[in-house]
Amino acid sequence: ANKKILVLPGDGIGPEVMGQVRRVVDWFAKHRAVGFDLNEGLCGGAALDKHGTPLTDETMADAMDADAVLFGSVGGPKWDDLPFEKKPERGLLRLRKEMDLFANLRPAVVFDPLVGASSLKPEIVQGLDLLIIRELTGGVYFGEPRGIETLPDGTKKGFDTQVYTTPEIDRVADVAFDLARKRRNKVTSVEKANVMHTGVLWRQTVTALHAAKHKDVELGHMYADNCAMQLVRWPKQFDVIVTDNLFGDMLSDCAAMLTGSLGMLPSASLGATDPTTGRRRALYEPVHGSAPDIAGKGIANPLAELMSYSMMLRYSFDLGEDADLVDRAIERVLAEGKRTADIAEPGSSKVSTSQMGDAILDALDRL
Ligand code: NAI
Ligand code: MG
Repeated sequence: ANKKILVLPGDGIGPEVMGQVRRVVDWFAKHRAVGFDLNEGLCGGAALDKHGTPLTDETMADAMDADAVLFGSVGGPKWDDLPFEKKPERGLLRLRKEMDLFANLRPAVVFDPLVGASSLKPEIVQGLDLLIIRELTGGVYFGEPRGIETLPDGTKKGFDTQVYTTPEIDRVADVAFDLARKRRNKVTSVEKANVMHTGVLWRQTVTALHAAKHKDVELGHMYADNCAMQLVRWPKQFDVIVTDNLFGDMLSDCAAMLTGSLGMLPSASLGATDPTTGRRRALYEPVHGSAPDIAGKGIANPLAELMSYSMMLRYSFDLGEDADLVDRAIERVLAEGKRTADIAEPGSSKVSTSQMGDAILDALDRL
């Protein structure tokens, strides 16, 4: 049976960039016999307008039943004044929560033709290809107790709690080792074991898991503050970085800026493996939002969504060769000077969203 993909284009530029990815999906079905059953649903503002909720139970069930979810972006000024529980973003949060997506994958890849777009020296970023895996469902963003209290003297106290259990650390580290094997076989585990108990437990747990199951993968440890420095100093030393929710939030944004534009950044979030089907829940999405400032103009860069599709091929379906084909088509198109406005140099010519799609299909035909 064909693998099932649930496509949720969402709002703003979401449907615009997804339209180009669907053309690429069709290309693969035709030329590479990579057949998927695609089912399209509504999420975010689009679902609010039609059903009064940012994600219906039916669409939620479709997501649980799919082999992978390909997501666009949600939100926009039209829904900005709604109460928090009704906001379009709640649709995405519900997906993340119910699919239990605990591992957030953020690659930082520099395509050769775009080396100049990075703010760093060319020799530092040329050929860069690293992957940050951020724990997404635990840590200080969720730990109890938390709150703001007024003390007897009238001053206030704000507090949060960082909690990690060994199963939480094991499962995200397990993903890191498995994915490193599909890459350059190296994991750097990042925490602050020098000042935090969760950091000590993190390091012990990753070390024990490595010894028990993943000795074939190279493992190193690094403090988070040093990691931030090393990412800017010499990022090519890294293959896979695995870290907690808070450090991962900051380090992945830092790594993103090694590469250039928001329109070029994909991501994936992985959940637990279903023991009966052997299938890992997964959602793939660009890092960018719905870009209301350019929505409807047909100028959005579709490459972050396309790279999210490429990640899906690689990490959900083990179709590494096909993923490479997508990545090479992107590289080729950029090398030939095709640029959407967000990555164009001042004064140079620009292509539209659909012209970028045309160029990708043309490059795939020629590869
Ligand atoms: P944004 O990522 O939508 O846009 C930031 C800037 O980057 C804008 O100038 C935009 O035009 C540009 N940009 C983003 N993607 C681009 C692309 N593919 N091609 C060319 N230019 C691109 O972030 P912003 O403005 O903070 O949020 C806008 C809306 O999106 C809000 O409603 C926000 O809540 C929502 N949002 C949704 C996310 C999601 O669905 N995962 C993530 C981030 C924001
Ligand atoms: Mg962030």
